[in-house]
Amino acid sequence: MAIPNHIVTTLCLSLFLTFSFGQDEGQFVYNGFHGANLQLGGSAKILPNGLLQLTNTLKHRLGHALYKVPMSFKTPSSGFVSNLSFSTSFVFSMVPELPNSGGHGLAFTISPSMDFSQAVPSQYFGIFNISNNGLPTNHVLAIELDTVLSPEFKDEDANHVGIDVDGLISVASAPASYYSGEEKKNIRLELISGNPLQLWVDYDEEKKRLDVTLAPTRSFKPDRPLLSTSIDLSRVLVEHMYVGFSSSTGTLASDHYILGWSFNRSGQAQSLDIAKLPSLPSRKKSRQYAGKIVMLSSAGGAIFLVVVIAGATYTTRKKRYEEVREEWETIYGPQRFSYKNLYKATKGFKESEVLGEGGFGKVYRGTLASTDAQIAVKKVSHNSKQGMKAFVTEISAMGRLRHRNLVQLIGYCRRKGELLLVYDFMPNGSLDRFLFSAEKPSLNWAQRFRILRDVSSALLYLHEGWEQVVLHRDVKASNVLLDADLKGRLGDFGLARLCDHGTNPQTTQVAGTVGYLAPELSRTGKATTSSDVFAFGVFMLEVACGRTPIEPQGPPEEVDLVDWVLECWKVGAILDASDPKLEGDFLADEMELVLKLGLLCSRSLPAKRPTMRQLTQYLDGKATTDLPEIQVFLGAYF
Ligand SMILES: *[C@@H]1O[C@H](CO)[C@@H](O)[C@H](O)[C@H]1NC(C)=O
Ligand SMILES: *[C@@H]1O[C@H](CO)[C@@H](O)[C@H](O)[C@H]1NC(C)=O
Ligand SMILES: *[C@@H]1O[C@H](CO)[C@@H](O)[C@H](O)[C@H]1NC(C)=O
Repeated sequence: MAIPNHIVTTLCLSLFLTFSFGQDEGQFVYNGFHGANLQLGGSAKILPNGLLQLTNTLKHRLGHALYKVPMSFKTPSSGFVSNLSFSTSFVFSMVPELPNSGGHGLAFTISPSMDFSQAVPSQYFGIFNISNNGLPTNHVLAIELDTVLSPEFKDEDANHVGIDVDGLISVASAPASYYSGEEKKNIRLELISGNPLQLWVDYDEEKKRLDVTLAPTRSFKPDRPLLSTSIDLSRVLVEHMYVGFSSSTGTLASDHYILGWSFNRSGQAQSLDIAKLPSLPSRKKSRQYAGKIVMLSSAGGAIFLVVVIAGATYTTRKKRYEEVREEWETIYGPQRFSYKNLYKATKGFKESEVLGEGGFGKVYRGTLASTDAQIAVKKVSHNSKQGMKAFVTEISAMGRLRHRNLVQLIGYCRRKGELLLVYDFMPNGSLDRFLFSAEKPSLNWAQRFRILRDVSSALLYLHEGWEQVVLHRDVKASNVLLDADLKGRLGDFGLARLCDHGTNPQTTQVAGTVGYLAPELSRTGKATTSSDVFAFGVFMLEVACGRTPIEPQGPPEEVDLVDWVLECWKVGAILDASDPKLEGDFLADEMELVLKLGLLCSRSLPAKRPTMRQLTQYLDGKATTDLPEIQVFLGAYF
């Protein structure tokens, strides 16, 4: 079904005359993948209508589909040289989980083996892993369609096409676009628009040139390729190579589909028959996707796919949904949400949807109409135009931070005087409600200890695990959220710093919260990893003692939490400081460790405080040295 009979006949004939290698392996055309000769791996599957789905929107998954018969490429190393030219073309579609926010992408691959069991998803595309990425022994050529900006691979944006040899730092790449002969200019394409797009890859043996060309399926192949790179594939290809696709999702995910594919070793890959391609699953209503597909047959017999976007007008409602958008913002990738979608998701920012209110503004619960995904939207007021670019740069950096104990920032939107930040929704809300109010059941010690370890590993990641040091600046119980399993997730990271950008320098206040501020902050105003450690120490004491750092109503000796725990320690009864609600039901060793670590973090000399790495080792029981002595001089604690 996939290969019409007359093609098979000419194919056998021409191969018989010109080449000695196997007869059915040099070329094929699949307009849909019913009965295709493919080896599927990972989450890849062929849907009942013949659509090849490489991944769905499950996170951190990979999918492979490889043509089962290896292609024979004779290279100098294998004795004699054959013609390495090839030509391929395929139609794909990436349907993001959230509008404007999908990942990671898919790649056309030529590889020496079908075994990708050692490869990992996310930015590694299911092709490589951290240790083999970039090795010349890989012998892999990949054309990546990448929808996430991965700084470690020097990506330029979150919507590009790249040529990869043996690793993910592309030898050439360009933002997704195509050359329109009619308009005589390049037109940008969104890889994750959900619309089908076509890609051509052509290697010319004589010129040693690899051309990669992208276009919407309704267009002919553009005259000018998107990438045209000189490259000698005889160094990359070995005698037997497999051709196919690899795709992956990460924290951001898309459905990745291939609708049709043709491949040819002995000439131009045959055009796909657009009319025969399987259709994509229908999507939930969302204006962006409300397209209507009409097939037209021209006199010459060529078949065009015409996408007629339902031309609804929204002029009357324009004001309500008005937002601020500038050209430079498009380069920061896919994380921008439309105000309208957020407005609808939160039922018009209704009071009943308010989840909480923090120093920066209100947080609303929302549900995205397109995917039913639950989100939390934080509204932050922001009045400065100046610094906005830095602001958005930082947001995009925060969006790339990934750790299981951070509340994931998925996107943003901005309007005049207002910024909206979109986060993963955390069903159990913030930790302070469990610790300090009667409204929620109290947490037992095992749950609390676990949350401390969760938050310490998130802070360690912010301080040491990323390309640049990220300071949190506002660690406290109310900024720790609990997911469905009551695991701790640190929220609002980076926000304190962001808010500095917008404010007038004269009025800049020390960011953070009274009771958690390291003493040097009021003198220098300069936050450091040690000032985060100070706040984390206070946070540990909050969790162990079940009370806030300052309790003005309490007996005088108990007003300040740190002082009070220190008093208990001085009289040799540090466990007396533990939360009475626990009724003594805790492991004494762990409780003592947490209280002592809390004290060590609140030393007034920053250099004397432990680092997040040391704290994490103590909490995980992996420290190689004993806890430092707590020393008190003249009744004061330095
Ligand atoms: C990466 O993959 C190679 C095989 O290609 C394997 O030998 C190696 O152990 C893998 N490394 C990691 C860290 O998984
Ligand atoms: C190599 O094969 C291509 C077809 O794939 C053909 O157009 C080209 O002329 C061949 N080159 C040589 C040197 O045989
Ligand atoms: C491969 O190229 C040859 C020569 O141009 C052509 O006759 C044949 O139809 C092509 N086959 C496919 C499957 O593209």
